[in-house]
Amino acid sequence: MDGNGRWAQQRGLPRLEGHRAGADSVRDITRFSREHGLEALTLYAFSAQNWARPADEVRGLMELLRDFLVDERAEIMDNGIRLEAIGEIAQLPGLVREPLDELRAASAENHGLVLTLALSYGGRESIARAACAAVRAALAGGLRPEELDADRLGAFLPTAKLPPLDLLIRTSGEQRVSNFMLWEIAYAELMFVDVLWPDFRRGDFAKCLDNFDARERRFGLTSAQLADSSDV
Ligand code: FPP
Repeated sequence: MDGNGRWAQQRGLPRLEGHRAGADSVRDITRFSREHGLEALTLYAFSAQNWARPADEVRGLMELLRDFLVDERAEIMDNGIRLEAIGEIAQLPGLVREPLDELRAASAENHGLVLTLALSYGGRESIARAACAAVRAALAGGLRPEELDADRLGAFLPTAKLPPLDLLIRTSGEQRVSNFMLWEIAYAELMFVDVLWPDFRRGDFAKCLDNFDARERRFGLTSAQLADSSDV
């Protein structure tokens, strides 16, 4: 969700106003995802590296996250959304962690859209933790090192229970992945959209989904093989 700062700067506003407008995009995109029947939506809301931003920006972002969790609770529960979180959740301040834990528990049995917030999240950090868990399993005798393949390591990732990642969208025109879902993007379609996140609303998202539908995903196969398998 990139471009909040530039959106604010273009208007002569403090950066936090960009994040506030970005939170409105979060609400719109989440609602659209649910109405559109998407299985899962994961939002990169705060990276492991974002802690190094100015303290007042970090505090403002934490307050916006808290407000989102409190204000959207009823909508999440009324619409069967399951809230999840990935990242170093223990590092978050209580004002976010408490409503987050509460809503995760309350929504755990919901069967609609899985809305995952990536908070204090880093893709490399996440892979390193999975490797650590695999080593522990091996030391405890539950896993033979030679059995450790991509599927088994992937099962230790916090995204293991999510469906495979189909589409990654980065807003604001930057063409980087910035430590997001490094493992999971293996066969995802990537889209770099020239719209700042606070301006990114359901119409922009719908265009991305149309673009996604028009792509041929081959997963290492040839087009001819794909055509053959669709005839079966
Ligand atoms: C990156 O843009 C954005 C963030 C670090 C924060 C994203 C947070 C929100 C959209 C609001 C709160 C989230 C939820 C889930 C309610 P940037 O600040 O790096 O933008 P810039 O590159 O233009 O400076």
